[in-house]
Amino acid sequence: MAFTAVWNYCVPLSVITLLSLVGTARCQAVQAENVTVLEGGTAQISCRLQNYDGSIVVIQNPRRQTLFFNGTRALKDDRFQMVLFTPRLVRITLTNVSVSDEGGYFCQLYTDDTHHQVATLSVSVPPDTPTVEVKQEAVEGGEVELTCLSPRSKPPATLRWIRDRREIPGVVSQQENGKTVSVSSTIRLPVERKDNGAAVSCEASHPALGGQKRVRHYRLDVHFAPTVRIIPPPGILREGDSLSLTCSITGNPLPRDVQWTRINDTLPERAEISGPTLQVSRLSQSHNGTYLCQAQNNYGRAADHYTLLVYDPGAVIETHSAVPYAVIGGVLALLVFTVICVLIVTVWCSVRQKGSYRTQEPILNWY
Ligand SMILES: *[C@@H]1O[C@H](CO)[C@@H](O)[C@H](O)[C@H]1NC(C)=O
Ligand SMILES: *[C@@H]1O[C@H](CO)[C@@H](O)[C@H](O)[C@H]1NC(C)=O
Ligand SMILES: *[C@@H]1O[C@H](CO)[C@@H](O)[C@H](O)[C@H]1NC(C)=O
Ligand SMILES: *[C@@H]1O[C@H](CO)[C@@H](O)[C@H](O)[C@H]1NC(C)=O
Ligand SMILES: *[C@@H]1O[C@H](CO)[C@@H](O)[C@H](O)[C@H]1NC(C)=O
Repeated sequence: MAFTAVWNYCVPLSVITLLSLVGTARCQAVQAENVTVLEGGTAQISCRLQNYDGSIVVIQNPRRQTLFFNGTRALKDDRFQMVLFTPRLVRITLTNVSVSDEGGYFCQLYTDDTHHQVATLSVSVPPDTPTVEVKQEAVEGGEVELTCLSPRSKPPATLRWIRDRREIPGVVSQQENGKTVSVSSTIRLPVERKDNGAAVSCEASHPALGGQKRVRHYRLDVHFAPTVRIIPPPGILREGDSLSLTCSITGNPLPRDVQWTRINDTLPERAEISGPTLQVSRLSQSHNGTYLCQAQNNYGRAADHYTLLVYDPGAVIETHSAVPYAVIGGVLALLVFTVICVLIVTVWCSVRQKGSYRTQEPILNWY
């Protein structure tokens, strides 16, 4: 914060030779300390006097307007305050610093206007949290274009795109707006439906933030065509049972409406539809048929079907019971096959072991 220009008038000094005289002993040290102040912060501008003899001290702003004439305010700007005036040190403060306050502040003796000291004030503008813009709607199989924007910083902020803790290199562009810089970084990512909801973030770092970062999180919104799947009821259905079919739907955007139909027929009178669920109470064989669930969004449509067979209350169902028998038969066959394999391997191993006793010495030679 402190910004010091040491003013020395015992030997004429030009600003150019100022720094080269640092540390020379004869006429006291001269130092110009450049300090960077955050925008909105308070800057301290100090003029160090040596052998002060009561002359008038003039402090001027970068436009060479006089701020203070020997301790008296000359420019109407309340942000400047004279906080110290001693024979060794004159110090003023500037509050709510803005980038337009940047530049060299002059300290000089009124009697000797060829010799002055300049203290250069720099203002640092840290970036706000950047914003993310989507230039192109993301559809599965396509690409998404994301732009991270930091509209105002000084010096320019550094933007980094991160996904799964890895950096995605972006195309960076900078634009100067007066004294500040607008920075953007654009990335293009191929997207599939699995990327929907995936998190990416844009981090802005800046010298004024130290190691901290201003981070904008963004979730990918990948549009994709719906999928539908009817979850069938378990077991068989007989007359008098009730049917409940649920249609499981995905899609982005998620289809709002589900259509239930029966192929080549109308839906049963007793059918009740609530959202993705179709219910029919007290089934009869007239309800036999193929039921269709359909959904659509702007990216496509999808359908699934379920064939309803309503059996007599007393029917003995062979088609369904045949399936477990087939499975049991298969398992048995596999078991028998495994046992045979194990037997063969056991016999083969025991034969090989006997053989290896005879060839023990050559084997030991390997070690
Ligand atoms: C102070 O800033 C001025 C202008 O930017 C520069 O010329 C000078 O070298 C700086 N002095 C120091 C001590 O950094
Ligand atoms: C300038 O101000 C200083 C400090 O108040 C004072 O000692 C000095 O006499 C003043 N010089 C003149 C010429 O008024
Ligand atoms: C600081 O300065 C800005 C313009 O540079 C102004 O908009 C803002 O109101 C000021 N803040 C205070 C607290 O004076
Ligand atoms: C619907 O009717 C058409 C012709 O009438 C026929 O070809 C088709 O197989 C029928 N579909 C079903 C699922 O019954
Ligand atoms: C309904 O399906 C069952 C099972 O296949 C069958 O026995 C019955 O005859 C069918 N009824 C009608 C009216 O199609």
